[in-house]
Amino acid sequence: MPDYPPEPFRIKAVESIRLLDSAARGAALLAAGFNIFGLRAEDVYVDLLTDSGTGAMSDRQWAALMQGDESYAGARSFYRLKEAVDGIFGFPFFVPTHQGRAAEHILCGLLVRPGQSVPSNAHFDTTQANILARGGRPENLGIPEAAERTNPHPFKGNMDLESLERFIEKTGPENIPLGMMTITNNAGGGQPVSLENLRRVSAIYRAHRIPFFIDACRFAENAYFIKLREPGQAGRSVLEIARDFFALADGATMSAKKDAIVNIGGFLAMRDEDLYRRACNELILREGFPTYGGLAGRDLEAIAVGLWEGLDEAYLAYRLGQTAYFAGRLDEGAIPIIQPPGGHAVYIDAGAFLPHIPRDHYPGIALSAELYLQGGVRAPELGSFAFAYTDPATGERRHPALELVRLALPRRVYTQAHLDYVVDTLKRIRDRRDSLRGYRVTYAPELLRHFTARFEPL
Ligand SMILES: Cc1ncc(COP(=O)(O)O)c(C=O)c1O
Repeated sequence: MPDYPPEPFRIKAVESIRLLDSAARGAALLAAGFNIFGLRAEDVYVDLLTDSGTGAMSDRQWAALMQGDESYAGARSFYRLKEAVDGIFGFPFFVPTHQGRAAEHILCGLLVRPGQSVPSNAHFDTTQANILARGGRPENLGIPEAAERTNPHPFKGNMDLESLERFIEKTGPENIPLGMMTITNNAGGGQPVSLENLRRVSAIYRAHRIPFFIDACRFAENAYFIKLREPGQAGRSVLEIARDFFALADGATMSAKKDAIVNIGGFLAMRDEDLYRRACNELILREGFPTYGGLAGRDLEAIAVGLWEGLDEAYLAYRLGQTAYFAGRLDEGAIPIIQPPGGHAVYIDAGAFLPHIPRDHYPGIALSAELYLQGGVRAPELGSFAFAYTDPATGERRHPALELVRLALPRRVYTQAHLDYVVDTLKRIRDRRDSLRGYRVTYAPELLRHFTARFEPL
């Protein structure tokens, strides 16, 4: 096995966790309607639900909180954040938002009209839902290799350029109010997008005068993958690479809960001044004044520090190394995972792991429930339950390519021993997987149904 860099930090504060006994875990899951989102967090032992907002802030971030300027307008903390956003992203305008989906909400509210389409390599769930909520049509045009679990393509998050060209021609650029790219691609394995692909996507959007927005949640991890894997990029800093790809775009939505390593926050950045003014009006209506946007001044301070920490290359080497270690151990244990592993998570192909459970009985929900029952581990389904939707224009039911369960790694939180525990839990499940059964839905809302749905074992 290759070497993995140890943590480039030491631990200064700890939070206790406990493992409930098996009967208590069964009762907790039953009460949650077999949906792991319904569990109380203190009943979870190793929580790999998400890497969003669950990272451990540094001593420097905690110190920055004390310097928060809570003025309603023009707070010093806003200007600290502005310095970081200007220095890294380089867009002339931005507004803070309380998290990424608030930025998506404002952007889609301003640009998307019923019947219009928004292409991307792969929209994440909140982006897809925000487009659908405006009557729009999300379109995922990732490369076909992304759907092949073991294909070793180094940039499985790439857009299929020919499909994008064909899609624009068929739809008409006038029916495409914006185009997006999600870096890294969270819906399809946390896979990176190459700089070359971003350049070409940008050129296509620009040729058709389609505004190009990057979903930038995991921009630093994506930039580090480019440094590691893309020819000619090894000698460049992650910051230089990130500046290069943001220069290709007209704006970005950002959930700071990921690569800015904070518990809450985000922003919407753009080049177009008119769009910025309209975004400010929306922001004032829904989030707050444009210099705080639904956040406290101390939150802005923590994001400003975290954005730079997320770009630290010693941290990124450890971060991607931890994911690779976890993936390597799961692979040795014959657990079918997406290869190569992504940045923030390892994705199990639940469809391949539980081939006897058909798609409409949700193999991902079955595996997610079993992980909790067997080991108190929490990990969500990202398959047909979370992502299937009905196309508003055609009435057709659209499914994702793979039935996935995501083991997301909170930043700077769990040790190698925690990950070994999860691997052992999955090996126990592997040995009795033929006995697992599918699930039936007893309640589900229309949009983002995985958060609050309830199930029953079949
Ligand atoms: C790729 C991507 N985009 C958008 C979001 C939404 O961000 P938030 O949870 O801060 O609203 C997420 C969150 O998981 C994400 O992974």
